[in-house]
Amino acid sequence: MFDVTKIRADFPILSRKVNGQDLVYFDNAATSQTPLQVIDVITDYYCRLNANIHRGVHKLSQEATDAYEGARKTIQTHFNAAHSHEIILTAGTTESINLIASGYSSLLQNGDELLVSALEHHSNIVPWQMLCERTGAKLKVIPMTQEGTLDMSAYESLLNSKTRLVFVNHVSNALGTVNPIEEIITKAHAVDAKVLIDGAQACPHIKPDVQELDVDYYVTSAHKICGPTGVGMLYGKETLLNKLPPYQGGGEMISTVTFEKTTYADLPHKFEAGTPNIAGGIAFGAALDYMNNIGFETIASYEEELLAYATNKLREIPGLKIFGEAAKKTAVISFNIDGIHPYDIGSILDQLGIAVRTGHHCAQPIMDYYQIPGTVRASFAFYNTKEEIDRLDAGIRKAIEMLQ
Ligand code: ALA
Repeated sequence: MFDVTKIRADFPILSRKVNGQDLVYFDNAATSQTPLQVIDVITDYYCRLNANIHRGVHKLSQEATDAYEGARKTIQTHFNAAHSHEIILTAGTTESINLIASGYSSLLQNGDELLVSALEHHSNIVPWQMLCERTGAKLKVIPMTQEGTLDMSAYESLLNSKTRLVFVNHVSNALGTVNPIEEIITKAHAVDAKVLIDGAQACPHIKPDVQELDVDYYVTSAHKICGPTGVGMLYGKETLLNKLPPYQGGGEMISTVTFEKTTYADLPHKFEAGTPNIAGGIAFGAALDYMNNIGFETIASYEEELLAYATNKLREIPGLKIFGEAAKKTAVISFNIDGIHPYDIGSILDQLGIAVRTGHHCAQPIMDYYQIPGTVRASFAFYNTKEEIDRLDAGIRKAIEMLQ
């Protein structure tokens, strides 16, 4: 039985006041909040375990290494990767994508084609544009539709024998659209192209199985899934990761170093130069444990209820237009009010203690498609409530009264 009051007690921040009001936190797509179970793991690390990993014979270093490698195993199990060395711990989704983009610099040639979806966050666009500049490869765009989905027949006609890589988010951060990644992956593989899925916005709601998906690369960040900022992961198939050159040079990623020649460590260390975010990695594992204890099916069905409740309420507000009306959506509502700038709505909501994101959401091509400067985005998590949605509804109505 899902008890939201009990869940909320795990999140100290949810009981704070903002501008004299009880906080309503609806900016979960930007970053989720952190439960005590994860905060305690970080505190415990610095109180009891703090040491550098993989390099000490002393007890603290061994215990810290065990906790860090234990977290990697938790992440492997969560995503159902075949091997724990297929999980590379990174600083987050952006670094994971840049790692792959950097690796392909030596594997692409002039004339190769890369496909990116029109629904991407800038972090899944710009690294590929930079890769194209380095290699002469061409970046082509899978177009979107008015309802905020991908045009799948256009996708099929873009695929050809020159297509080397396809980049799509599992869920759009700006609109909440759940993309048909199974179909995208199968069709890309039919022309021998590899697929990178940006899972940053999917992982708070969906538990992906990388083997069942047969995805080549899957990336995400811990802070969207109740974990800390500054840590994330790259899953890659072993055979593909072995073909990629290292990303950064430094300690930990080597096997032997001489001034004549350096040889590299095996996976995953080849891609993990330098001292990592040790506490963050361990807390990433704890965050997945926390979410799995609640259960992703429970989370998804409660959030669907919140989404339906909020969509029905907000649709009743005169002049409010929702952007992104795909049949399959996560709990995100991006909207505008006729004649009012999204920033003004966001500022008044903030005065009322309601946190939403306004602007282009790092997805300017989507805003250009709709010919708007940005939207107001309310993104929900399993610790939100219908009462909070009532406050959002009342807050938007008040903002309209004040601004029109
Ligand atoms: N990518 C995060 C968002 O969509 C920051 O808000």
